[in-house]
Amino acid sequence: MAKTYNIALIPGDGTGPEVVAEGIKVLAAVADKESFRIDYTTFDFGGDRYLKTGEVLPESAADELRQFDAIYLGAIGHPKVKPGILEKGILLRLRFELDQYINLRPVKLYPGVECPLKDKGPEHIDFVVVRENTEGLYAGAGGFLKKGTADEVAIQESINTRKGVERCIRFAFEYCKKRNKDNKLTLCGKTNVLTYAFDLWERTFHEVAKEYQGITADYAHVDAITMWFVKNPEWFDVIVTDNMFGDIITDLGAMIQGGMGIAAGGNLNPEGVSMFEPIGGSAPKYKGQNKINPLAAISAAGLMLEYLGEDRAGKKIEEAVMNVTGSHLKGLAAGQMGMTTTEVGDLVATLVTE
Ligand code: IPM
Ligand code: MN
Repeated sequence: MAKTYNIALIPGDGTGPEVVAEGIKVLAAVADKESFRIDYTTFDFGGDRYLKTGEVLPESAADELRQFDAIYLGAIGHPKVKPGILEKGILLRLRFELDQYINLRPVKLYPGVECPLKDKGPEHIDFVVVRENTEGLYAGAGGFLKKGTADEVAIQESINTRKGVERCIRFAFEYCKKRNKDNKLTLCGKTNVLTYAFDLWERTFHEVAKEYQGITADYAHVDAITMWFVKNPEWFDVIVTDNMFGDIITDLGAMIQGGMGIAAGGNLNPEGVSMFEPIGGSAPKYKGQNKINPLAAISAAGLMLEYLGEDRAGKKIEEAVMNVTGSHLKGLAAGQMGMTTTEVGDLVATLVTE
């Protein structure tokens, strides 16, 4: 009998459902070709549900989601909901409760994609950021003193545990070894100022590096990395960093690979259930117009398949996406592709079966 994957779908808000629909279209085509099955169960988490019920996420959500092989997410964020509520209440809560301690974000410039960097092409931009995804400034430690008074104090602490740092660094070394491109892992930190947090990161990094003699253990400060992403992106192979720095540098990474229309990522729990998503937001102004670029969501579906062990199917999706950017699309931005959302999905679905 054909292998069946059970996927939890969270289409979410704004253009999330539209891009997820194209991802499903492509998954169906490639699954057919590769003879496996995918079953979906849809969850209505997002802004509309919150506005209707007052509940951001049911208590049982994480336990239910744990039963699946993977989670495929569209976008979370609603113009009628105050910023922070859905992001923290759905996206971050799921990352934490499902202990998805890695946020894996490939930064790869595909053929035909306009890059804002002068004289840089696909041969220069192909690296992966391994972002710690459950600790750091995102842990929610801190608080207010004398809130609302002239003497107010706000404290937001960065939590870095040996266990959390080490498992992230170990994942990054393993990933770099398996990727086998330049065999170089760069720790992105701020050891000159954040002398507690990044001291722990740096010590752990060098300790683990001893087990990986074939990998060059490199270091760069986060501010310098933003400079080099622009000037010398070809220097990077795999980068490992904390939650906040990873958040910031991967938006820059997304821009040099052509923008939010193409950037995808995975929230991974290597021992549990992982969640795949386009990095961009819910783009509410394009909702329902058939204009949004579905390639990031389609690429996230490809990452999901690779992660599930369907390497060949995942590669087929990536190749089809590269074919579309290289030979078919006018641009990547919403409304500027020269094609509609559904036409792009149809095209990728056809190409994956060739
Ligand atoms: C991301 C997003 C989230 C983050 C927000 C929406 C909470 O920016 O996935 O990078 O900061 O992690
Ligand atoms: Mn971000």
